Amino acid sequence: MVTTTGNSIETAAAWLNLEEVVAIPTETVYGLAGNALSETAVLRIFKAKNRPHFNPLIIHSHCWKKMDRYVKNMPPAAIKIAEAFSPGPVTFLLEKTDLIPDLVTAGHPKVAVRIPNHPLALQLLQIVDFPLAAPSANRFGYVSPTSAAHVLQGLNGFIPYILDGGNCAVGLESTIVDFEGDEVIIRRKGGISSEAISRVIGKKVIVRTHASDHPVAPGQLKSHYATETPLVTGNSEELIHQFSGSKIALIEFGTSLIEEAFFRVNLSPSANLDEAARNLFSMMRQADQCGADIIFASLLPETGLGAAINDRLKRAEHANKI
Ligand code: TXA
Ligand code: MG
Repeated sequence: MVTTTGNSIETAAAWLNLEEVVAIPTETVYGLAGNALSETAVLRIFKAKNRPHFNPLIIHSHCWKKMDRYVKNMPPAAIKIAEAFSPGPVTFLLEKTDLIPDLVTAGHPKVAVRIPNHPLALQLLQIVDFPLAAPSANRFGYVSPTSAAHVLQGLNGFIPYILDGGNCAVGLESTIVDFEGDEVIIRRKGGISSEAISRVIGKKVIVRTHASDHPVAPGQLKSHYATETPLVTGNSEELIHQFSGSKIALIEFGTSLIEEAFFRVNLSPSANLDEAARNLFSMMRQADQCGADIIFASLLPETGLGAAINDRLKRAEHANKI
């Protein structure tokens, strides 16, 4: 299959109407989108990504009114969070109706729903008659894509079209929130911080994002976001002694402490967390492709988006334990 890149929502819609999958831009990362109501399209998503079927998909729509038919009810806390942050980088786990195929949710009673905040994605969602199921548009397990070029690197030949909407403004996947009784539970850290969500609901959210190799709550596979080059997090000054003689790629944040390195990138020289989030996946890819033996990444402060960035770095570290 020939993969073309362009910025025509009509072309994207035409492929989607044929139950094909296309890559679409969102403010978080690029998604690999297909008709969420079509099992054929959903199976094509899993196939193009090489993703196991037990890992469920997020469905995207351009407004909550359209989402009504797919979810049974919205708890008051979900409404508050949606009013504050949606459209935006937050995904809601809500009880699904029968219109959503079990394949989308991997048999779970809840479906993950999100309204992305990207003009092209919103326009596309308006002109198709169905919600779009869309995981991140990378081969399963690899670093998520934040540009059309990243998508092409992983999925060239597997999908007909990439809708190019430029670089993703947030750069981290959405925060996934779940609702149990009166509790609000974060299942994946992401583009909206847990502090911001706590403020809006007026109490502390529970963060339950345990990684495992056999996730009970899906989405917590440890091996996500892996680079091919082993990645180690920690104090770069100490690591540099441990790995002396190796070609080292540094992923830094804030002031640079190490003088010599084979390759280096800085997520944000001014230590700005939003900028770091925007740069993370692209710099992980650069570090992965520079020919180094090993990547060192310093962890960020655990506040705001720093917590979600650290989560991605630690998962990448786990995937390539050396
Ligand atoms: O920002 C994002 O959320 C991006 C863009 C494209 O919207 N999408 C994304 O999708 O990150 P994906 O498939 O890479 O990650 C979705 C996560 C998975 O870890 C999945 O297991 C979890 O959401 N998830 C989806 N449906 C679920 C469900 N019904 N119950 C629990 N977890 C679910
Ligand atoms: Mg993903």
